[in-house]
Amino acid sequence: MSLDAAPGQARVEMRLNGAPVALEGDPARRLSEVLREDLGLRGTKVGCDAGDCGACTVLLDGVPVCACLTPAMQAAGREVTTVEGLGGEALNRLQRAFLRHGAAQCGICTPGMLMAATALLAATPRPTPAQAEEALAGVLCRCTGYAKIVAAVCDAWRDPAQAPPPEAGQAVGAPIERLDGAAKVAGTEVFGADAMPPGEALLVRAVRSPHHAADFGFGDLAAWRTAHPVVVAVFTAADIPGRNRFGVIAPFADQPALAEGRGRFRGEAVALVAGEPAAMAALELADFPVVWTEKPHNLTLPAGEDDIHPERPGNELIRGYVACADAEAALAGAAHVVEGAIDTAFVEHACIEPEAGAAWLEGDTLVIRACTQAPMMDRDDTAAILGLAPERVRMIPTAAGGGFGTKLDLSLQPLIGLVALKTGRPARMVYSRHDSMTSTTKRHPARMRARIGADADGRIVAMWFDGDFNTGAYASWGPTVANRVPVHACGPYRTPAYRAEARAIHTNGPPAGAFRGFGVPQAAVLQETLYDDLAIAAGLDRLAFRRLNALRDGDATPTGQVLRGVGIAECLEALAPHWERALSDAAAFNDAAGTRRRGAGVAACWYGCGNTALPNPSTIRVGLTAQGRLVLHQGACDIGQGANTVITQICADALGLPVADFHLVGPDTTLTPDAGKTSASRQTYVSGKAAELAGRALRAAILRRANMGDGARIALDGDALTITGGEATARLELGDLPEGAGGGDL
Ligand code: FES
Repeated sequence: MSLDAAPGQARVEMRLNGAPVALEGDPARRLSEVLREDLGLRGTKVGCDAGDCGACTVLLDGVPVCACLTPAMQAAGREVTTVEGLGGEALNRLQRAFLRHGAAQCGICTPGMLMAATALLAATPRPTPAQAEEALAGVLCRCTGYAKIVAAVCDAWRDPAQAPPPEAGQAVGAPIERLDGAAKVAGTEVFGADAMPPGEALLVRAVRSPHHAADFGFGDLAAWRTAHPVVVAVFTAADIPGRNRFGVIAPFADQPALAEGRGRFRGEAVALVAGEPAAMAALELADFPVVWTEKPHNLTLPAGEDDIHPERPGNELIRGYVACADAEAALAGAAHVVEGAIDTAFVEHACIEPEAGAAWLEGDTLVIRACTQAPMMDRDDTAAILGLAPERVRMIPTAAGGGFGTKLDLSLQPLIGLVALKTGRPARMVYSRHDSMTSTTKRHPARMRARIGADADGRIVAMWFDGDFNTGAYASWGPTVANRVPVHACGPYRTPAYRAEARAIHTNGPPAGAFRGFGVPQAAVLQETLYDDLAIAAGLDRLAFRRLNALRDGDATPTGQVLRGVGIAECLEALAPHWERALSDAAAFNDAAGTRRRGAGVAACWYGCGNTALPNPSTIRVGLTAQGRLVLHQGACDIGQGANTVITQICADALGLPVADFHLVGPDTTLTPDAGKTSASRQTYVSGKAAELAGRALRAAILRRANMGDGARIALDGDALTITGGEATARLELGDLPEGAGGGDL
C-alpha cells in the first residue's frame, strides 16, 4: 500500500482472482464495497454489512473473511479470491455439486457458501458433514436448512457425468437441476443491489422517523441541500404527483410512500435524499431539517386510546368471523374442556438480501428493476403514486434473495421511481439491514384465547377462538390475516361446532404483513398447546389424540368445505414409530438424572394455498417463433422456491417437448402476462395449472394443424416440428405459419 496520495487516499495493490489489481482511494473502505462498486465484481453479496450473515465471504490468502468487515488496505499485497475466481462459466466441481444437490435456492448466500467451502476443500478434500458444518458456520442461509449445502460440499470430490435430461413427457418428478441455477453458483445472478441502470445513477437514501409516533414539519430544505453539495435533490410527500397511498388490498390502501406530516411507526420514510454515489453513503443525515413533535404511542395489544387512523375507531382495521353449529352449547356439554391464552411476538423475515433496486427512464416509460414477489401489484401501485398510467411503468424483477412474504409489499419502488421521474437521471437504492428491519413488514404478533372441548372418548366436539392480531401502523395484509385465521384456527381436525373471531388491530409497530400462513401458524401455537392439554385430560397419548381427530376424505371443515385427498391421518400414522422412539429416548435421557431435560412434541397445521376470498388468476403464455424457438413467457417471480423450473416442467409435459427445448422470458410486466404474486405457495398450483393449460393448447393446435391424433409425438427440429403418430409423420415448417398463429390455431 502506498500513502503518497491525498489525505485519506492511498494506492492499494493486491492480486484478485489471480491477476494484479491496483486501487486508488480511501484504504479504509470496506473490501466488499470496493469489489462491488469499484471493480464491478458483484458476485460478492452484502446482507448485513456487520459480519453476521457471511454473504460477503471471500478468501484472503485462502482464508475466509467477511469482506464487509475487511478494510481494503488489509488486502494490500495479498491474494483475494471471489466467486468470480472459481470455475468461471464452466463451473468447477464444487459449483456443479451445488447444482446437483439443489444447494442454491434463492442463491443470495451461495457465493459466500462457495467461498467458505473452497477454503475447507483446499485443506480437506473429502470432508465429513461435521467438518462441512463447522466450516460453513459463518455463512447464513435462510432458504435451504443447510442439509443440501452440506451434502454438496461433502460430495464435491466426486464429479459424476451429468444425468441425461428427462425425455419429453418425463419432466415432472424428474430431479432436474434448476434452470436458473448456473447463474446462482457462478455469482452472475442479478439481485436487487446488482441491478445497474444505464448511465451514472444517483444514489437514494431515505430520511426515516426516529419515533414510534410523531407529527413533523420540515425546515429549510433548499438551504440544507445547498450546504451539502453532494446532494442533487431532496423530495418529500409534497413532490409526489399521484395518490400517496398504497396497499396490497385496494380498499384498505393506507400507507404513504412518504409520510405526510405524521409518522406512525419508527423507520417510516418521510423524505428522500438523492446524490452522487461516491459520497452519498457517508452523508450524515442527522442534521436533515425535520422538526419532530413526539406523540404517545402504543406498540402492543390491546392498542392504546389514540386512533392511529381516525377513520378506524379503536384502531380496529377489520374483523373476520367463522361459526358453525352452537359452539357454546357443545362446550357446555363436553366431557373435557381446556382453555388457554397465548401471545406471540413480531417475527422478521430476515431475507439475506435487503430490499434494493434501480429505476430509469426509457423514453416516457419508467423502468424499475428491483427485488419483489409481486411485479404487477408493484407496477399498479407505483404508477398510481407517481400519477402515471400503469403502461408507463415497467417492472423487471431481479432475482430475489429471499422473500418469505415481506417482498409482497411495495418498499423502494415508488421512491426510486420518484427520483428517476423528477430528476431524469437513473436512481439506485439499497436498503441497509437497519432500513430493512425497521421499515418492512413482519409477522403479526397475536394475542389469542381459546376453549376446546372433547367427549369422553377424546373426540373434539367444539372450539371457541378469539384473537387480536397486531397489524402495525398500516393495513398491509391485516385483512387477509383477520379473515384467514378464523378459517383455520381449529387446525386439521374434525370440529363439529366452532366459533372463531380474529381482529386486525393497528399499533405504532412496523406494518405486519404476509409471512408463511398469514396468521395461521400463530393460531396453531395455541391450538396445538390446548390439544396436548385435551389429550392428557382425556387420557390419550398426544399423537393418538390427533390421529383420532384428524380430518379425512369426505369430512367438512367449519366453513362447510368438503375435503378430498386429505393426507394428515396417513402422515400422523407414519409418524407413530418415530413418536414412540422419541418418547422413549427422552425418557431414557431424563432417567439419567442430569440437570437437563428432553421432551418430545407433535403438532400439525393447515392453511390455504393462494389468495384468501379473492380471485386467483394466473396467465402463462407459450409459443414457437418462426425460427423454431420455443418461448415460455413466465411472469411468476422465482424467489428461490423454483417457479422457473417447475412451471417449465409442467408446461413441457403438457406440450410433449423436453425442458431443454424451452427458452424462458420474464418476469417482466411489459413482456409477460400477469401470473399473480408469488405468495401462499400458489405459483406451482395456479401458474403451474396455467402452464399446463397453455402447453396443452399449443399441443392441440400443433396436432390439429398436422392432422394427427392425441397420442402423436412432437419433436422440435431446428425451425420445424416433426409430428409422429403410428406410421405417419408430418413436418410443420414454422416459418411457413402465419405470424401470431396460436390460441388453438397454431
Ligand atoms: Fe441460502 Fe437463499 S439459498 S439464503
